[in-house]
Amino acid sequence: MPHPNLIFILTFTLLLLPHDVLNQSKPFTPQEMRDARLEALKWNNIFRKWHNGTPTMTLNDELNDAAQQRAEYFISGKPIPTTIGENVYKRLKERRAWFDAKNETEGAVKTWYFELCTVKKFPFGEAGKFRQVVWSDSVKLGIGVARNPSDSEVVVVGHYFPHGNTKGQFKKKVGKLRCRKDVICNGNISQEHVDEHTCRGGINSPSTWLPHLVVVVTTYYIIRTT
Ligand SMILES: *[C@@H]1O[C@H](CO)[C@@H](O)[C@H](O)[C@H]1NC(C)=O
Ligand SMILES: *[C@@H]1O[C@H](CO)[C@@H](O)[C@H](O)[C@H]1NC(C)=O
Repeated sequence: MPHPNLIFILTFTLLLLPHDVLNQSKPFTPQEMRDARLEALKWNNIFRKWHNGTPTMTLNDELNDAAQQRAEYFISGKPIPTTIGENVYKRLKERRAWFDAKNETEGAVKTWYFELCTVKKFPFGEAGKFRQVVWSDSVKLGIGVARNPSDSEVVVVGHYFPHGNTKGQFKKKVGKLRCRKDVICNGNISQEHVDEHTCRGGINSPSTWLPHLVVVVTTYYIIRTT
């Protein structure tokens, strides 16, 4: 048993050390990470459902680990280049409050997807985050979330496999939006209030054209039989 005074001195010294020296990032709990990853998966799959021929994706442990490592690199300011399908989201917070990892992954995936609304044309290299979210081949997802020790900055990293944005395949691999773009990009719907039903209001969705079809067919039938 070390001398009580020694323990006191050691503890005191540790408390005096800057937090950054002790750890590079302030970890979220395993439960927070699980929830955050499921939330990211949920939003990726909601947006993928809005595009024709786009299968849902699943979480992958290896991709999660790689994405987590990358998120921590970004927090410590030492990102190394990567060739995998990667989306990155960074947010700074002014007021002092805790980051909610689940809220941050929701914000990240929505920010990536809603490039669709802010980038007018899609030449090479633009709206790459949007395209990666809905790239039909990318069916495996990894999510990493890291914050700095002072809890003022958060980074969310998404790893997509197989990667998207292959040149020359944009038309083939990004399915047509099933609803009207102006419905989901309506300035009245803030990104926070978008839900999985938002896309239903568009003219391309059966909920709007089906009733008209029923009326037309029924009218035709009535005319034929009278
Ligand atoms: C959730 O994230 C949004 C940005 O996506 C932010 O404006 C909001 O303050 C966050 N809420 C909480 C409780 O952290
Ligand atoms: C927003 O809503 C108001 C009223 O509900 C409407 O007059 C306006 O045109 C809408 N703006 C957009 C961009 O759709």
